[in-house]
Amino acid sequence: MNPVLEAIWSMRAVRSFKPDPVEDEKMRLVLEAATKAASGGNVQPWAFVVIRDREKKLEVQKLVSTEWHRMIDEDVAKMRGKKKLMYESAGVLVDNTADVPALILACLDLAKTGDGELKYASIYPSVQNMMLAAWSLGLGTCLTTHGCTTDGGEQTLKRILGIPDGVKAAAMIYLGYPAGALSPPRRRPLDVMVHHERW
Ligand SMILES: Cc1cc2nc3c(=O)[nH]c(=O)nc-3n(C[C@H](O)[C@H](O)[C@H](O)COP(=O)(O)O)c2cc1C
Repeated sequence: MNPVLEAIWSMRAVRSFKPDPVEDEKMRLVLEAATKAASGGNVQPWAFVVIRDREKKLEVQKLVSTEWHRMIDEDVAKMRGKKKLMYESAGVLVDNTADVPALILACLDLAKTGDGELKYASIYPSVQNMMLAAWSLGLGTCLTTHGCTTDGGEQTLKRILGIPDGVKAAAMIYLGYPAGALSPPRRRPLDVMVHHERW
């Protein structure tokens, strides 16, 4: 397999990180990879807030952890099996946000995209680029929407990070070196998702 396919075939959501910092050079490559992505009309509506300072991460943690438990604890209590384990590990991640070496908040400039239903179509390609670039450099990521919804603390997150009006928090990416190896992603078989010529 070529290196691009290898990365796609192996990348997982990483929720447990080594404490080692992300080198500046790798951080730059990851961010620059994000800027190579597609966007509608090539408007490049993204902006990225990189958070590495522990005090700042603690402020973010307090918000996202509180919001996570407020929104999801009741549902997690009713879950079973693998799904429950995944949500529990997502809970551990959010409760330890400040211990993750770096957070990247991907933001969307609404002046460039408008506020319509297609706005996220011009930010998630850049996020995926970022994640694959990180993986290719031995780093792991976990894509989340922590603090990215109006009822999930977005206004507070924007205040903490000084994000101006007209800019939407779109995705919070956790970044660092994975604490351990992960098996390849498990997905539903292709045949049940693909239709030829018509549904
Ligand atoms: C829109 C979106 C929101 C997500 N939110 C969270 C989250 O809040 N916490 C978390 O740990 N993972 C989150 N994830 C990661 C997914 O759980 C993960 O991509 C999925 O379980 C597949 O994981 P795998 O690639 O390791 O198999 C999110 C992913 C997406 C695309």
